[in-house]
Amino acid sequence: MEVRYKDLSPERIKTDLLALPVKEDGLNESVVRSLDRRLMGNLSDRVRKNRFTGAEGTSLLYPTGGLLPAAHLFLIGMGKEQEIEADSWRKAGAKARREATGLGTEDIAFYLSSDREAENRAGAIVEGALLASYQFSKYRSDSKPVSSLRAITLFRPGFRKSAAIERSVRLVLNLSPGVFLARDLVNEPPSVTTARYLGEQAEHHCQGRGLSVEMWGKKKIEAMKLAGLLAENRGSTEEPRFIVIRYRPGKRAKKKVALIGKGITFDSGGLSLKTAKSMETMKLDMAGGAAIIGAMSGLPHLSPEIEVTGYIPTTDNLPSGSAQKPGDIIRYLNGKTIEVLNTDAEGRLILADALALAAKEKPDCMIDLATLTGACMVALGTQVGGVFGNRQPLVEEVIRCGRAVGERFWQLPLVKEYREEIKSSVADIKNVGGSYGGAITAALTLQEFVCDRPWVHLDIAGPVYAEKETPICSRGGTGFGVRTLLRFLSSF
Ligand code: BES
Ligand code: MN
Ligand code: ZN
Repeated sequence: MEVRYKDLSPERIKTDLLALPVKEDGLNESVVRSLDRRLMGNLSDRVRKNRFTGAEGTSLLYPTGGLLPAAHLFLIGMGKEQEIEADSWRKAGAKARREATGLGTEDIAFYLSSDREAENRAGAIVEGALLASYQFSKYRSDSKPVSSLRAITLFRPGFRKSAAIERSVRLVLNLSPGVFLARDLVNEPPSVTTARYLGEQAEHHCQGRGLSVEMWGKKKIEAMKLAGLLAENRGSTEEPRFIVIRYRPGKRAKKKVALIGKGITFDSGGLSLKTAKSMETMKLDMAGGAAIIGAMSGLPHLSPEIEVTGYIPTTDNLPSGSAQKPGDIIRYLNGKTIEVLNTDAEGRLILADALALAAKEKPDCMIDLATLTGACMVALGTQVGGVFGNRQPLVEEVIRCGRAVGERFWQLPLVKEYREEIKSSVADIKNVGGSYGGAITAALTLQEFVCDRPWVHLDIAGPVYAEKETPICSRGGTGFGVRTLLRFLSSF
């Protein structure tokens, strides 16, 4: 998709679809009024008939019938002026893209209403249009070819393209393939996305320009004493992998960041078997790992002056005669022991390995990303991810980065008193707490392995599971987390 810029008025631009953002009760603005005059008052008639007010989430399509060089006018309701934020523009871009796809048009011209924050706005509009184009249709025999939108033109009379606008748009174009990669990895069937496949994909997409990948097989995993991953893999016929992706900047790195992603390629629950219904979506359980592969693959475009290492422990979680059993105890490389009372609380078991290993390199910050608990989804629903951390400014920075890219996070507390709930009678801790606060007890378990390094834990079970399509995401793989991580890394 090409992005163009033009200094033109809406009356003069030639396009298939002219997207015009309208804020709530903003229909008497001069752009709309002069278009209405050219359309001989028909536009305001239609607006009145459809009761279109510019409210958020609404839109109005108007074919111009040859009265304008633009074939269709598409008014996009932006909602109340004081509530418009970066994500409103992303959603507007997505909405225009969906409409264009529906109409089968080849280009969109998007009216960029003002100079204020033009670069952020331009980036967000293009990003929305790009992300909304994603389809996963390779397994459909009747799949239509992916929509052929060729160009999006950002325009306004007096528009002056700036280096900042171009930079912001180029970054969006360069980084969205990482989001698509994460979505693809999640959407592929679980017998395709195996631990080995995940490693191969990391090797394929993360190389060159400062990136390198190591894929550890069972022998190396044993040598590195990654006991959680080995225990978890015992029920499987597939070998586990431990993927390490490194990014080293050209210049001397000022700081070191570790990213850790849960890579359970299928979560049946193990011997603590899930129900048929709750197993249906469990190919998504490697979404944290996928997001890290996606984010790392984009790092050369961002070229931050920090060292970034991605750690992805990966295996499936299956029951079998050799599977780990409730009551088994795992001894970790930092000396701590966990009694496994529920084999369905497996994410924390493999993340513990990765956190302990990452902490040894003394990173300035560790972020883990995991579809960790149904409890987090109960607490926050499917639109908001949970965030925990042991350094408040770091937590707030991640939340801020999320908000800037349209991924919402809400902080949950690491309640010290709840550590009582994960005390075991035979080991240091057990892998499940009581009936309540399951997202918190899971996070407290992880905290045992971070050696007090600055750490943030993102529980993304809800947003990855999201049943409904969101404006910029198709159902299933959402790529949730990729852009938050990239935003964070660009300013850490
Ligand atoms: N992968 C699941 C969490 C999950 C649930 C992700 C729904 C996405 C949607 C995780 O491994 C799990 O099974 N957690 C259990 C923990 C419990 C056994 C303590 C849960 O949340 O029920
Ligand atoms: Mn589980
Ligand atoms: Zn799981």
